[in-house]
Amino acid sequence: MYSGLLSCLGGKRRLASLIVYHAQGPVFADAFMGGGSVSLYAKAAGFHVLANDLSLRSGATGHGIIENPGDILVDESDFAVLFEENSQAGDFWQKKADEGRVLRPIARLVDLAAANVRKIQSPTRRYLLQHCALKVMQETAGFSTTTKKASIKAVNKGDKKFPQSDVYLRAMKAASRPVQTFTTTALEVNHSVFGNGHNNTYYSMDALEFVKRSAAWHGAKQGTLYLDPPYPGVKIYSDEYAEFEEFLGGKPLEGDLQYSKGPEAILEVVQAADHFPTILMSYGGKTAPSTFLKKVQEIRPKACLVKIPPQRHCRHTKRKNDPGYVANEMLIHAPR
Ligand SMILES: C[S@@+](CC[C@H](N)C(=O)[O-])C[C@H]1O[C@@H](n2cnc3c(N)ncnc32)[C@H](O)[C@@H]1O
Repeated sequence: MYSGLLSCLGGKRRLASLIVYHAQGPVFADAFMGGGSVSLYAKAAGFHVLANDLSLRSGATGHGIIENPGDILVDESDFAVLFEENSQAGDFWQKKADEGRVLRPIARLVDLAAANVRKIQSPTRRYLLQHCALKVMQETAGFSTTTKKASIKAVNKGDKKFPQSDVYLRAMKAASRPVQTFTTTALEVNHSVFGNGHNNTYYSMDALEFVKRSAAWHGAKQGTLYLDPPYPGVKIYSDEYAEFEEFLGGKPLEGDLQYSKGPEAILEVVQAADHFPTILMSYGGKTAPSTFLKKVQEIRPKACLVKIPPQRHCRHTKRKNDPGYVANEMLIHAPR
């Protein structure tokens, strides 16, 4: 189900089932949707999903996948449009290829697809294809790994003497067959597309405004609000995803700065969410659970920590089996 999503810093794929288990319906409102894993799980569980995020990157997923009624899938006819010659195509990613950040043939194809996607009439299909282009870029570029960046540089330069590591060979394969790489990745997005009988909606506004406005929305007064804001003291989204935001025509995000400074901003959101009978909240970083929980309990006295099994926190077997391992993340269940 998740294989069609973009991976997201702080993404909750391993925790989504536990989070949604504590939700009550009919509405599941996800104020900081990110990569969409929790919203997608809630959609699969039959909730009416109201998702929100400030970033344009999440917008492609929210409109293309979460809002998708299930009958708009990526197919061969889309690729015929995306790969048409287009003199209006820009060179956003190709410039990054000059810097050695992305594979040149893939960059050319994604720049072309970005220009041609504007020809697609259906907004949901347009966003879905935009999401596909982001996924192709995310999976083939060397955004945060040094080894991948070095391999990409070598492939772009045609450096035959570069050590033939797995990463290098994968980059080589992707660059030698860009159309196949693009289409294979894009078709995988279909694995995350399904309907659940609700008119699920994606919003794009500041989380506090989303929560305040939701007081007037049908079902929110019997539903669940899920909060997964940027955590104080950890890497901020505006830095990590600046290139994607710029590619989609936006500016680097600034909305997460207020959440990165400390717990005050998220407590203001909790305060504004009185109309939701249930609030679930992922929170972490350098904040001590007991200190933060006490602050939430001043607003919702019944708030408590949900026990999270270690294997839900981390992939690393060594850490998972370490009895002294302390996760830097908590899940709070706050009924009214
Ligand atoms: C921890 S991530 C969410 C991860 C998500 N639960 C997942 O599983 O992928 C936090 C998200 O908050 C978004 N964000 C930051 N500031 C925001 C704001 N002021 N309003 C709405 N969304 C914001 C970021 O763009 C980022 O996607």
